[in-house]
Amino acid sequence: MARVETSSNRPYHLVIFGASGFTGQFVVEEVARTVSEGPNGNLKWAVAGRSKQKLEKVLEQAAGVLSKPELRTEVDMIVADVGEPDSLAAMCKQAVIVLNCVGPYRFFGEQVVRACVENGAHHIDISGEPQFLEGTQLNYSSQAAEKAVFIIGSCGFDSIPADMGVLYTRDQFRGTLTAVESFLTFSSGPEVCHYITHKSIN
Ligand SMILES: NC(=O)c1ccc[n+]([C@@H]2O[C@H](COP(=O)([O-])OP(=O)(O)OC[C@H]3O[C@@H](n4cnc5c(N)ncnc54)[C@H](OP(=O)(O)O)[C@@H]3O)[C@@H](O)[C@H]2O)c1
Repeated sequence: MARVETSSNRPYHLVIFGASGFTGQFVVEEVARTVSEGPNGNLKWAVAGRSKQKLEKVLEQAAGVLSKPELRTEVDMIVADVGEPDSLAAMCKQAVIVLNCVGPYRFFGEQVVRACVENGAHHIDISGEPQFLEGTQLNYSSQAAEKAVFIIGSCGFDSIPADMGVLYTRDQFRGTLTAVESFLTFSSGPEVCHYITHKSIN
């Protein structure tokens, strides 16, 4: 595996864990697109997951979609399994940031957060699971602060508009806001999908 030094002496700025999942595949495509088109051309990144074959397939697919055959050879792969702590530690030691797409987080999330904190990698997830998020804050906040590691939850489609909507409503609301129900409608082809979320802010 080619080692490219980052500013923090880790080979990768970003490791996408769970790259073979439904969401992970889109994340891979988006990172590849951003790296090639944006100002982040020097970003060093890798894909990670429990199956090397699946990771190869994901890179092949992204290479096809983006017409960038070089992705198949230029992006490194890390094999790591949530059930194998040593593999998680090895992955986290190589990353400045682990972008964790492995869910459900209530089953698989804590192990990855712990490995990140213990091995000095920042952790970003796309969870929408309050129990996991609150448990993480309760159990890892102090250790993360001691290690100067950021744990940033719910960086995903579902979560960001909901959080922003709640903050906006709280700031504009005349009184004490205790709960918010939000409704999202979007159209995709002939079907219309209605999405209802409930967010308590106490
Ligand atoms: N906040 C939001 O807006 C939002 C949006 C979409 C998804 N999500 C959340 O994101 C998570 C992923 O969703 P998804 O639809 O992408 O799920 P998915 O298609 O089932 O993908 C799950 C990923 O986790 C991996 N995985 C499972 N067990 C593992 C293990 N023991 N070790 C290592 N990797 C393991 C899978 O690897 P294999 O391919 O090897 O099975 C796969 O890459 C879910 O928790 C979902 O709720 C949130």
